[in-house]
Amino acid sequence: MSEKLQTIIAGMTLEEKAALCTGASNWTTTPVERLGVPELICSDGPHGVRRQANVHETGAKSLPATCFPTASCLASSWDVDLISQMGQALAEECQALNVNVLLGPGVNMKRSPLGGRNFEYFSEDPFLAGEMAASMINAIQSKGVGTSLKHFATNNQEFQRFSISSEVDERTLREIYLPAFEKAVKQAQPWTVMCAYNKLNGTFASENYHLLTEILKKEWGFEGLVVSDWGAVRNRVAALKGGLDWEMPGPQPRRVQAVVDAVRSGELDEAILDESVRRILRIIFKSTETPKTASFDVDAHHELAHKIAAEGLVLLKNNGILPLRDQQHVAVIGHAAEEAHFQGGGSSHINPTRVAVPFKELQAQAGDAELTYAEGYPADNSFHQPLIDQAVQLALSADVAILYIALPTFKESEGYDRKDLDLTVQQVALIKAVSAVQPNTVVVLNNGSPVAMSAWIDGVAAVVEAYMMGQAGGAAIADVLYGKVNPSGKLAETFPLRLVDTPAYLNWPGSAGSVRYGEGLYIGYRYYDAREIPVLFPFGYGLSYTTFAYTNLKVSSENFRDVDGLTVSLDVSNTGKVAGKEVVQVYVHDRLSGLERPVKELKGFAKVDLQPGETKTVSIALDFRAFAYYHPEYKQWITEDGEFDILIGASAQDIRLSAAVTLQSTLNLPCILDNESTINEWKADPRGSKLMVEWQPFIERETRKSFESQERYGDEKDAEDGLGMGDIMQMVNDMPLFSGLMFVEKKLPQTPEDLVASLLKQVHSLD
Ligand code: BGC
Repeated sequence: MSEKLQTIIAGMTLEEKAALCTGASNWTTTPVERLGVPELICSDGPHGVRRQANVHETGAKSLPATCFPTASCLASSWDVDLISQMGQALAEECQALNVNVLLGPGVNMKRSPLGGRNFEYFSEDPFLAGEMAASMINAIQSKGVGTSLKHFATNNQEFQRFSISSEVDERTLREIYLPAFEKAVKQAQPWTVMCAYNKLNGTFASENYHLLTEILKKEWGFEGLVVSDWGAVRNRVAALKGGLDWEMPGPQPRRVQAVVDAVRSGELDEAILDESVRRILRIIFKSTETPKTASFDVDAHHELAHKIAAEGLVLLKNNGILPLRDQQHVAVIGHAAEEAHFQGGGSSHINPTRVAVPFKELQAQAGDAELTYAEGYPADNSFHQPLIDQAVQLALSADVAILYIALPTFKESEGYDRKDLDLTVQQVALIKAVSAVQPNTVVVLNNGSPVAMSAWIDGVAAVVEAYMMGQAGGAAIADVLYGKVNPSGKLAETFPLRLVDTPAYLNWPGSAGSVRYGEGLYIGYRYYDAREIPVLFPFGYGLSYTTFAYTNLKVSSENFRDVDGLTVSLDVSNTGKVAGKEVVQVYVHDRLSGLERPVKELKGFAKVDLQPGETKTVSIALDFRAFAYYHPEYKQWITEDGEFDILIGASAQDIRLSAAVTLQSTLNLPCILDNESTINEWKADPRGSKLMVEWQPFIERETRKSFESQERYGDEKDAEDGLGMGDIMQMVNDMPLFSGLMFVEKKLPQTPEDLVASLLKQVHSLD
């Protein structure tokens, strides 16, 4: 392969190479017919194939394809096998619709519930998002169809998404915003990675050498090509230098010429252009092997979309009204019962093959019960009291009222962020009015991201979070309401009580061109845990029609080496009367660490399917990274000797079992002591501590003497300034070694500068 590519590259003119690095149309590469280089076709993504009928024409209508559940719903299934099935089906549709690369999945973190595009992303947790993305990519690519992992990186909001600079410190980047990308790249090698629109720490993602070249290509070993988000490239030459291979969309003759000119003038090394050409050619030739089929199984894929949606719905509240049994009169209320709200606005919008209408699906399962319908709220943002009155009348005479409440697209979409967590004024008034007259009120929500519920949740009997559940979601809702499916979805994000409680609240959405990620590592449950802030529903939460017991936690070893990792096992039993599935979550808590760490972090999970009375043993492996954190000074993931707690939860706030384990680090870290290192830091460093055996007691002794000679410090208690000797020593040890030495300079054999320089020389020579 590579020889063939080398020959082609050698035969290409400079103009052809530059043109290949920019698209020929909205969805295709620039072919080089004379050298047998065909075009590659890509299409959105991520939860369906948005293949435009004519890929060379802008704005052409898209062909019908299955609209699978959006990532918001999919992620709540916590089921990587199911995600893999969806990936395979998506690939089959790409084969049938002649698409080589599907633009997805998206793995950006849900930094704030206000993110307009959160419905396209998996989670607030990088481990969960990474597992899901890797599973989807592996499945799609196993069928010869490529993917585009997006949007790399820190594209966590829509506000000024084309220009804003996400200001993120390196540790936060490595531990929160990059790991999902990292896992997907390392475990699944997507054919392409799509760079984000925004800047990261002042440099456009499309030109960001640190991100695209140093981290993605060199450190993680990404073999594919980097494509720009559509219109994300400002300076084409700078982008090539940064590591952006393929600019989209095209054609862009002006920019192609800029690349040619830059090579000719010596501004751009042709070797950089050749490397991008090589990466693009490699993927194009891979895509020539994408199987082509005449059609896909529309029915089977609709059924799969139905099954996935049913696994992704989350039962948030249930006073026992669900599953519905023999209610004779069911009042079905809400616009979304007739017009399903199953996907979001923007580039991911699919032309569905068919749509399950929630009302009809409910009717199909309701037996001989009578179902009546009231619209309840209008499709737009206006207020119509008569619609509420009509709904109340219907609910009054019914045995149960089911409210289908969808957050409208004018509130949530790609392209803009939400302004609040609220449903529309009319929707809130409707829920309150109906539940005031009908105690058996069930609310079914369709939205891409958490909504506030405090105003009405206490008054309703049950709440089902159905998210944007794909074209078959209407049937999945009916399954869950009537108990044909026992709900097993769990939240992949925290539902806060109030917007002001959310982690990014004070730093959202930024201003003057930048947004500071001031909450650092503390997004999602990491924040609520650390601040002990109550939430509406925690991460990992979801109810079932049965109950589960967790017992018999075992760890493969209580003392282990980081490189060996650990295996955790436990028994999960279905203690209820119906079959059900439970999502078991493994969190790791570090008891003591050199740098601050979140209280606990998700590092493993499993979904178990259990018949009533059945028990299964679940085993989950934890590797080096489950215990490590990124140290910005060492510039690597490190482990430290010490004790950790393995916490087994049914949610982030429902820890059922725990075990203590002791880790032994095998790392031999380089010495990072420098002129400003404190005495405490010298003592904490294994090599520095050897030298401090002499110098720290010396500093203490001389400091003590000097203070004692001032008499007033003789006694710990009676110092004039309220400081005892112990307090003073604490201060001294927290000073740079140099400063500590300055205070006892008269007793030193040499200047503090010379002494620190010589100690640093010694300590670094021990590396
Ligand atoms: C979106 C991408 C999408 C692309 C092509 C952009 O506006 O951010 O996610 O793949 O358009 O439609």
